[in-house]
Amino acid sequence: MMANHMALTRNLNFVPADRTSRKPLSKSTDGSEPGSSAPRRGLRGYLLNSPRPGKVTAHQDGAIVWDGSGLITYAGSWQERPRARTISWEDWRSRLITPGFVDVHCHLPQYPAVAQGGLELLPWLQRYIFPLEKHFTPERATREASRFFAELKRNGITSAAVYVTACPESTEVCFQAARRSKLRIAMGQMMMDVNSYLARDSRALTRRVLEEGERLCRRWHGAARGRIRYAFSPRFALTCSSELMRATGELARATGAFIQTHLAENPAELVAVRKSFPKAIDYTHVYEQHGLLGPQTIVGHAIYLSDREYAALRETGTKVAHCPTANLFLRSGVMDWSRMRSEGVAIGLGSDVGAGPELNPWQVMKGASYSHKLRVVLTGTGSEPSLADLFRVATVGGAEILWPERKLGQIAPGFEADLVVWDVDRVDAFEEPLTERTDAELVLSKLVFRGALARAIRTYVGGEAV
Ligand code: GUN
Ligand code: ZN
Repeated sequence: MMANHMALTRNLNFVPADRTSRKPLSKSTDGSEPGSSAPRRGLRGYLLNSPRPGKVTAHQDGAIVWDGSGLITYAGSWQERPRARTISWEDWRSRLITPGFVDVHCHLPQYPAVAQGGLELLPWLQRYIFPLEKHFTPERATREASRFFAELKRNGITSAAVYVTACPESTEVCFQAARRSKLRIAMGQMMMDVNSYLARDSRALTRRVLEEGERLCRRWHGAARGRIRYAFSPRFALTCSSELMRATGELARATGAFIQTHLAENPAELVAVRKSFPKAIDYTHVYEQHGLLGPQTIVGHAIYLSDREYAALRETGTKVAHCPTANLFLRSGVMDWSRMRSEGVAIGLGSDVGAGPELNPWQVMKGASYSHKLRVVLTGTGSEPSLADLFRVATVGGAEILWPERKLGQIAPGFEADLVVWDVDRVDAFEEPLTERTDAELVLSKLVFRGALARAIRTYVGGEAV
């Protein structure tokens, strides 16, 4: 195996994987100009991909090539790869290569509080989360933000929608860390002006929160050559005044930034929302009334919805962040997968750390699979997602929500090379080599149910090792 590897290195312009440079690809390795379309970098490994909904494919001995602008020009079998001498190859045989995962809902400052359980949403927020967020100073942000983005990479996540806290200076520090990480990040300051850990509720507070959000949006929306986007983040109906919600909707429409919030996660939350907004028909109507729904809006959870609410999400083009592990952890419930699907509402997968106990997307898919199976069995209605559906949602599904104008989330020509190389040596029983298996569905199943043992060892964003 070693001798074979050496021969390839010599003969095919191979760069041994563990000695490859982590320098940006804009530093040319083949003499071509940065941004040129000449083929430049290639990976050899086991490719797992979702070419279309409900389908997963594998290339056991696969190859990916991308050009100087980070666009994939070839994805297929190693045998049929392009032979250009200008391609600098990395040998990842016995490793798995997937598209980069997209986490459409997570909370950076909550990461240290993961897996602190035993409570449901509202007491959990009061007991653990509000105190933690209140003390998320810029100094803490400086220590934790870079580590958080490193954790995203360690979990194979190349793109995420992230909530910070109500502190604008800490949010600024997080944006700077996001830029350094080179990941694709949509993020925003947590917006609250009632019932929160901030100063006494007042119109002055509302104005301040809006001004801070607008300023951060102006600085960061579209930064890092478009890898960073702003996401206005009104926490949820219970911590936002009507004025704050209405003005946030206007800001988002004026700037083209995202809106992210929480919707219908927990029964006690629903009761409290009904009490706080007696004129609203239902929870979704609160956001609708204030102009917060639309194609740029991502609502987390969306478990307890009426027929009218599904229709409202569909008609406004609002997107859903499905957070199955958080929903289990906080005993919130199980989203109705088949209903959401049949309504045609776009779904992405969210870890929702700290309510979700981990970032690992395989674990989040496992939580989804178990919970939806159980829901179908216990209710006798609906159907659960296939593993191929979940893999699709965790990659392309999330990418279409966060970066709809780009081609992301697949290993295919024309797509941007957002990729993850995984060490899967420990995934199968008795550490049997997973990459010797040819059945894509079976490999995916092993990964979803034992993916806690998979390790992301290299991530690429736009063809750049990050
Ligand atoms: N609803 C309002 N805030 C939060 C939060 O921080 N996490 C979760 N899971 N739900 C929320
Ligand atoms: Zn959340």
